[in-house]
Amino acid sequence: MGFALKEIFYLIFDNNCLFETVSMGRGSGYGKVILFGDHFVVHGVPGIVSAIDSTADAEVRKAEDRITVRDERKGAKDYTERKKAQQEESIERMLRTLGIDPGKISLEIRLGGNLPSFSGIGASAASSVAIARAIADEFGMNLSDEKINDIAYEAEKAYAGTPSGIDNTAATYGGLIWFRRNLGEGPNVIEKLSTRQPIEIVLCNTGIVADTKGMVAGVAERKKRNPKKYDSLFKQAEALAFTAREALQEFDLRKVGKLMNENHRLLQEIEVSCKELDYLVTLAREQGAFGAKLTGGGGGGCMVALTPRKELQEEVAAAMEKEKFQVLRTKIGIGDFHRGRKDGI
Ligand code: MEV
Repeated sequence: MGFALKEIFYLIFDNNCLFETVSMGRGSGYGKVILFGDHFVVHGVPGIVSAIDSTADAEVRKAEDRITVRDERKGAKDYTERKKAQQEESIERMLRTLGIDPGKISLEIRLGGNLPSFSGIGASAASSVAIARAIADEFGMNLSDEKINDIAYEAEKAYAGTPSGIDNTAATYGGLIWFRRNLGEGPNVIEKLSTRQPIEIVLCNTGIVADTKGMVAGVAERKKRNPKKYDSLFKQAEALAFTAREALQEFDLRKVGKLMNENHRLLQEIEVSCKELDYLVTLAREQGAFGAKLTGGGGGGCMVALTPRKELQEEVAAAMEKEKFQVLRTKIGIGDFHRGRKDGI
């Protein structure tokens, strides 16, 4: 018909049967699970993150009056409400990074996708990547993944204060990633890892919407106050990340599980776990999970359990659902995703 693909045609049946074209940009970002290094990565310790096969999807269209966001993601009841101000700030940051004055543009943004808005699984980073891609699409900007990742990193500052960049990196590129933040001027280390085959995991939500910014700031403050204790914990976290990388590549899943347990202990020591997360971690281990830990910022949010094979995954997930927790059955190491997916919300 000679129209650009991204144009959506609305047939509006009013009295005159008007045919109107509305342009719309689309983009997606992947959810993630940090397997090793949550919080420690902020301070330059390496971490291992995997994208999961759920995405936040965004649609953006030019509008008449200011910037509005319709957040239709499923998830924790009060997540959208609690994160609203941070979401607004993140969009402003994104636009500024793109050289657009947020006060001089009107956009209608719609967020959806099959990634639930639970804390800890990268919901904010996935939505930032999705929105950045959708804005770029709507304005015909041809942005590389690197540029999208940079924009999403700026947006993440609204949610995490001083983010490491691990969440937006997973949200942008997908796959299994070895990540190390560069605390100086240069680029972060971002290396693709692979496993022999995808591995089943269970993600379980405590139901508590976590304050990532507060959790990240809390660790920085305690680290400053107790340098001796924290130096030792950070060294242990670094050694653990290297051992875990090897174990993953050798597909020694029992060892990976044990290391996840060890990582949870370190996270308890830096005071980012809570009784609900500890409860879920214990429950997962009792049900036969190879290992379990909190994932993300802690203080609520999600737990991840390593549950190779469908039967074990089902057992662990069912035990949690029986106690009315929200659960996500997914896999890590699912390889590269196709970039910038554009299938609808
Ligand atoms: C949050 O998903 C992960 C943290 O390590 C913060 C960050 O790395 O930006 C807690």
